[in-house]
Amino acid sequence: MKREAKDVKVLLSRQFPERGIKILRQEGYGVTVWDKDRPMTQKELIENSRSHTALFCTLSEKIDKVFLDECSHLDIISQFGVGYDNIDIYQATRRGIPVGNTPGVLSDATADVAFGLMISVSRKMGYLHKSILRGDWNYFRPNANLGIELKNKILGLFGLGRIGLEMAKRCRGAYNMEIIYHNRSRNSEAERETGAKYVSFNDLVQSSDVLSVHTSLNQETTGRFDKKVFDMMKPSAIFINTARGQIHNEEDLIHALDNGIIWGAGLDVTNPEPMLPSNRLLSMENVMVLPHIGSATVETRNKMAELAALNIKEFYRGKDIPNLVNPEVLKTG
Ligand code: GLV
Repeated sequence: MKREAKDVKVLLSRQFPERGIKILRQEGYGVTVWDKDRPMTQKELIENSRSHTALFCTLSEKIDKVFLDECSHLDIISQFGVGYDNIDIYQATRRGIPVGNTPGVLSDATADVAFGLMISVSRKMGYLHKSILRGDWNYFRPNANLGIELKNKILGLFGLGRIGLEMAKRCRGAYNMEIIYHNRSRNSEAERETGAKYVSFNDLVQSSDVLSVHTSLNQETTGRFDKKVFDMMKPSAIFINTARGQIHNEEDLIHALDNGIIWGAGLDVTNPEPMLPSNRLLSMENVMVLPHIGSATVETRNKMAELAALNIKEFYRGKDIPNLVNPEVLKTG
């Protein structure tokens, strides 16, 4: 869409890296940054969006039918993040609103977190760090604090896109792990690069020594890891989730860990977020939880901000949006 730069008004739903904001200002757009030390309520988001033409937001903003009914005037929504399950894409598309996101640039950083969680859980690093604080480091005990090794083990990927591929490469390179995966479609690049083998969901669950989730949240994946699935896993297995907390059932995961049905879990995502400090998972020996930091590096967050700004800039310059989530919108527009 062409709109004169002076008429473009972008609302940023919180403080984002300056690099992205700079791109928008350099275009001559009006830019408003929500600078309070808390996210906007949905009511505030709606009210503030009314006087803007574009919204630059992130995963905890609820861009649902209620919001879109009130803000159907928006020209574009640009999401700072790769996942966009917070946005009702169907409703946005119906209203002719293109939605952009920031894939690719966060794959390495997120795979690093999955890989780090895997190692940390296998050696109980989080729990043992805390044991020093409790005064439990008394003397060397050969049979205590034992972890398990990862060399030559089987990595199962639930979802093999860009982030899954980076995780596969790390596990293959560092530990010669065998890679199996289950995905909506085959990923021949990953098969070629890492020797990954496509398997059924049940095979994935039953054969993995480490099962790492790298899929988007959708109807098929919500609650996919429940008691029935944990019951099928190896008692020595480690479950890793850096995608979305709603993909596993937390109570069922706690039950599986408590009862030795699986060995450990590493989570960068929880349901709900933030996780309460009293959550049982935080005191478990073979569990490591992080506060959704997958993309949280200086380099990656800068690139995400640039990409999210670029989606808006290219759109207003009348060019293709570099990362458009709902290309169908072009037909309705
Ligand atoms: C983070 O979770 C993202 O989707 O970018």
